[in-house]
Amino acid sequence: MQISQPSGSSTRQLAFGSLSIAYDDRVLEPRPWTAAQSAWAADLAHDVPPGPLLELCSGAGHIGLLAVETSGRNGVLVDIDPVACDFARANAAVAGLADLVEVRERPVDDCLAVGERFALVIADPPWVPASQTGRFPEDPLLAIDGGGDGLDLARDCVTTIDRCLHPQGAAVLQLGTVGQVDDLGEWMAGRLDLATTEVRMFGDRGVLAVLRRPGAQLPG
Ligand SMILES: C[S@@+](CC[C@H](N)C(=O)[O-])C[C@H]1O[C@@H](n2cnc3c(N)ncnc32)[C@H](O)[C@@H]1O
Repeated sequence: MQISQPSGSSTRQLAFGSLSIAYDDRVLEPRPWTAAQSAWAADLAHDVPPGPLLELCSGAGHIGLLAVETSGRNGVLVDIDPVACDFARANAAVAGLADLVEVRERPVDDCLAVGERFALVIADPPWVPASQTGRFPEDPLLAIDGGGDGLDLARDCVTTIDRCLHPQGAAVLQLGTVGQVDDLGEWMAGRLDLATTEVRMFGDRGVLAVLRRPGAQLPG
């Protein structure tokens, strides 16, 4: 697939797990540590019901594509940015995963078909508070600006997850800090049928949290 380049943008390649990922400066540069999100999702894939995985805020697609390759599941990748979606489609094709992957150019709060259910979800919303985005001048605002407390898009993601998560399913959410995970957990309580069940920290790079239905029976 050919991706049209504005003057000044040049495509770069990066190894992400077993994948070769193309991107340019119009999208967030893939961060190698986030392969841990793919790996955690692929581990959880052994314990949750079958079916495709959903990735919200997929960017160039690398996290979801690596989870698709490792788990053997199909994937639905969602991003609002048409450039990111073009890269995700191209990266899926290069990885030989095009037949397993659907890329939806949609906002996270309006990306589901009626009645659609997923047992495994990955979400990587922008999580930088709006007042701090200047710390990351290289990054596209759309990819990092999470609004006042950094959680605007995270709230949209967990609301979508609540709409579509299978009762025995699991979601792996990426945020910036444990404090954000706690704040989001407080916001979800009483609003959504989701709870944080495990958190893993990756130094100052970010945090991963697994969300499940509070009543879900976990495998022994
Ligand atoms: C933190 S980046 C993550 C991208 C990719 N997962 C990565 O690791 O590079 C957030 C992504 O969310 C997308 N995004 C921002 N607002 C969105 C919205 N309302 N709906 C869907 N995607 C959105 C951006 O285009 C960007 O690709």
